[in-house]
Amino acid sequence: MLHDEVIPILDFGSQYAQLIARRVREKGVYSELVRPDISIEQLKQLNPKGIILSGGPSSVYEAGAPRCDPHIFDLGVPVLGICYGMQLGAQILGGSVKPAKAREYGRAKLTVVAPSDPLMVGLPDETTVWMSHGDQVHELPDDFVSLAVTPTCPYAAARHRTRPFYGVQFHPEVTHTPRGDVIFQNFLYEVCKCSGTWTMGNFIDQSIQRVRDQVGNGKVICGLSGGVDSSVVAALLHKAIGDQLQCIFVDNGLLRKFEKQLVETTFRDHFKINLIVHDATGEFLAPLRGVTDPQEKRKIIGREFIEAFKREAATIQDAKFLAQGTLYPDVIESGHGYAGTSANIKLHHNVGGLPAELGFDLVEPLRELFKDEVRKVGEALGLPENIVWRHPFPGPGLAVRVIGEITPERLRVLRDADEIVLEELVSNGLYRKTSQVFAVLLPIGTVGVMGDARSYDSVIAIRAVESQDFMTADWARLPYDVLATMSTRIINEVKGVNRVVYDISSKPPATIEWE
Ligand code: XMP
Repeated sequence: MLHDEVIPILDFGSQYAQLIARRVREKGVYSELVRPDISIEQLKQLNPKGIILSGGPSSVYEAGAPRCDPHIFDLGVPVLGICYGMQLGAQILGGSVKPAKAREYGRAKLTVVAPSDPLMVGLPDETTVWMSHGDQVHELPDDFVSLAVTPTCPYAAARHRTRPFYGVQFHPEVTHTPRGDVIFQNFLYEVCKCSGTWTMGNFIDQSIQRVRDQVGNGKVICGLSGGVDSSVVAALLHKAIGDQLQCIFVDNGLLRKFEKQLVETTFRDHFKINLIVHDATGEFLAPLRGVTDPQEKRKIIGREFIEAFKREAATIQDAKFLAQGTLYPDVIESGHGYAGTSANIKLHHNVGGLPAELGFDLVEPLRELFKDEVRKVGEALGLPENIVWRHPFPGPGLAVRVIGEITPERLRVLRDADEIVLEELVSNGLYRKTSQVFAVLLPIGTVGVMGDARSYDSVIAIRAVESQDFMTADWARLPYDVLATMSTRIINEVKGVNRVVYDISSKPPATIEWE
């Protein structure tokens, strides 16, 4: 999509590159990652209001360190270099970069020395910033002026006197730099003179138009999973093309309790979206019988999903398009986009994906969005909170939470226990404070006492985590009282369970799911 205001970020491999883009967008300006060696012509085509040079793990004086076209500084567009980006800019413009005496890592006290400079306005005289670098700009020619210092860094922030180049040694994008947002605000509005057109309202209007242009009178199929992304895609497309949208929900028999009903009520009853619910329980459970290996389970489910979806899609006459909830991080991480150098190929857990051979043209209206933006779009489209803020649920569903063999009875036990966990979480106001919470059915029996008799029943584990990106996670410190209620209710109400345990492992080394 063409944007009237764009801040491209040249990605030199920083682990924070996506975070920079998010920070810029949070301030109302569209931003995307581009390759560090992007040509001047390509950059001009983006019509940038400003350019950011990201940090990166290299050292600018190393052979083979990534560089940008030096003519970037002749474009007349403001450039902000962050860490490596600052060092590179300073080097290109005549400064010298050397290893710092001490590798600076962690919090540092920043003292502003040029408080009226456009990049510094509104920053307190002293503030905390996050440093993470081995090199620093050692000497700057007279063309540069220092804007802020730390005890070990005389040019913690600096600018060129005549060219619109700014640099900061620290990372304004991370939360450990509490006033980092002021730097972005200033760069965008004081330096680049942006007007702030990136709002979810504008995004919705523009993508509605774009979808209409793409599909014309054609029919679009959308696989609904009940998750945030596909739900937002469906609501957006429905707004754009109404009855030309046909949603398909495959009930694989591995869903949580009431999940199918939630999807039906929300999309069919509330939004009046065309929805086919395909009950494929038998198709999934039969080949899973006796299978205990997690990867084997995933393979079977992935295969059956494609078959079931294909079969349903074939019943829809003249469908030419398939809608998918691809997000911006998927685009970058799969290497399809203008991926930067850090883009690590993520082929993690792809159950639920549909192969290109299905022969549809793809409609991917969320390709430019980060997850938090998807949620905002969902809210703006009127999706209910319990969909917009849904915890992630894996494609293979309860199959990877019924540890060991999957039987209808074991699924029943897990479903009932899981529902209690979720009910208690919601009623205690903890759903939005946690990232993913669920029950797991273990493949062992344990001894218990029920009245005078001994029982030999199943164990349920409760897994609750807090996580930013699900690549790392910490176990959630749920209050004991809430855990106690969950446990008592599960043991009393779910037939077949006599013990509940709480998983207190973080990721890594454990994973979020048990299988
Ligand atoms: P792990 O267990 O690897 O999970 O820490 C990280 C996130 O991925 C989800 N997950 C899956 N999602 N298909 C999916 O679509 C899968 O096979 C799968 N396995 C794990 C998990 O729920 C968590 O959010």
